[in-house]
Amino acid sequence: MNTKEICKQLSVTTKMLRVYEEGGLIHPLRGDNNYREYSEEDVLRIQMIVMLRNLGFSVKDIDKIFREKENHLDSVLYAFYFQLQAIKLQQRQLDENRNNITDAINQMLAGNSPVDRVLLQNERSSIYDEVRNHSDFDDMAEDYVERFLKENKEYHAGIAEARQFLDGFDRDTKILDAGGGTCYLWKELSDFTNVTILDNSLPMLMYARQNFPAGKCLLRDVLEPPEEKESYDVVISTFLFHHMPYDQQRIALQNLIGVKKLHGILYIVERFCEDEEEIERSRGRSIDYKPLIHPFVEMCEEMGCQAEVVRVGQLVRCLKITEMKM
Ligand SMILES: C[S@@+](CC[C@H](N)C(=O)[O-])C[C@H]1O[C@@H](n2cnc3c(N)ncnc32)[C@H](O)[C@@H]1O
Repeated sequence: MNTKEICKQLSVTTKMLRVYEEGGLIHPLRGDNNYREYSEEDVLRIQMIVMLRNLGFSVKDIDKIFREKENHLDSVLYAFYFQLQAIKLQQRQLDENRNNITDAINQMLAGNSPVDRVLLQNERSSIYDEVRNHSDFDDMAEDYVERFLKENKEYHAGIAEARQFLDGFDRDTKILDAGGGTCYLWKELSDFTNVTILDNSLPMLMYARQNFPAGKCLLRDVLEPPEEKESYDVVISTFLFHHMPYDQQRIALQNLIGVKKLHGILYIVERFCEDEEEIERSRGRSIDYKPLIHPFVEMCEEMGCQAEVVRVGQLVRCLKITEMKM
């Protein structure tokens, strides 16, 4: 096979083939015209090289594996094992970096220094586009409620019910708003003094800071386990769950139950459906994962809690979740 055919068949580039050749991994012969000719053995080797490269092996590592012809399987086995250890180490280092950078962001959010949110919105590099929040909340932050929810009666009915619920508490009650977005909920409750707004979108939090200056912003994913000592009198979430795939909803519920004090309350406002048909009927243009009400309540019970359900719209329900009474 010539170079062009090999590239097409094995989805490799000429440059990759040169690197493998220079690294001693393949030895194509030259035809009369001095063009490279790849043998069947070369093809098999290239396939193996591509697989090993995808697993993270360097050209040097692969050369070593190929050279150790005796006990070949043993050497591959050990090479895989050491690669696994290396990946675990890198993973630990990445986790550490991730934690450090999240801490740094949260320290900056906790400080009073003014942050230029216009810069945040406008200076978007190509890297930003590649890595931005997968759910696009970053892009929706600027005029989230005004643009997407202004006319949405169901949304406003849920928010009104949540405001009424919160209004019954002392202003210094320790509260966590999970997936708090731009803090529209707190618009009429801005005299609360001990509220933490958790969200995994920095732009959402930047607007939250502006709309509810007394709130403490926390950049975190609700799927991450909470800190050990963290506990709140009230944990609230409005319209968060339907953005998470169903398997993630269980983790989020567990984490939110985990951060409420023993006699605290978890209050969830969400669009719920009675059955699969209603999920299909109510599906909008974007992907959403409206939970089924009965399995959701059962899930709370499995987690040692009871849920009091109030329906405030066609789909919207408010769940007051407390520890199961013995
Ligand atoms: C539909 S908005 C609701 C915002 C606000 N609670 C409201 O009712 O106006 C959902 C919010 O949840 C945040 N969110 C989505 N998935 C999240 C996750 N896994 N962890 C933390 N926040 C999340 C989004 O960034 C967004 O701000």
